[in-house]
Amino acid sequence: MGTLQWSEELGVDMPQMDATHQEAVALLQAVQGASDAELMPAWERLLAHTEAHFAEEDRWMQATRFAAGNCHTTQHQTVLQIMRDGTARARQGRPGELRTMAAELAVWLPQHIDAMDAGLAYHLRQVGFDPASGHIAHPEALTQEPLHGWGGASGLGGDEEQAGAGQACTNRV
Ligand SMILES: [Fe+2]
Ligand SMILES: [Fe+2]
Repeated sequence: MGTLQWSEELGVDMPQMDATHQEAVALLQAVQGASDAELMPAWERLLAHTEAHFAEEDRWMQATRFAAGNCHTTQHQTVLQIMRDGTARARQGRPGELRTMAAELAVWLPQHIDAMDAGLAYHLRQVGFDPASGHIAHPEALTQEPLHGWGGASGLGGDEEQAGAGQACTNRV
């Protein structure tokens, strides 16, 4: 089962997001390499980090006119729920599920970064968003209608149809 490695290809040209993603990759590696005794603590570190990681991106989306139920936020919620359910089952005596889930996350995370986070980073650059202060340098670049897609109609990294607001979500994980 492959262990996810950080590479430049996972970068989205936004240092704060890239730093969080590098931490996520390292924590996922720790889970995948954990002994049975270390598995649950390593998983709990990953889960706590993922909660903060997703919450931060969700806040950035809320600050830059994404709709509350947009695809990206919905995908975060779906994955977190799966991780929490897995944690509960592991505590009930099925720790092996965490290893399966970690392997699935190692496939899912790069796809999510490419399909969702890269689009968000592009959108944040377009509106001149400063993650440290929350300041928006180009408020005129914000759309009038709340965004439902992943990053506005940028066309970045995918076909134009996927980028459009109001596009139906695909939350396969
Ligand atoms: Fe992310
Ligand atoms: Fe994300």
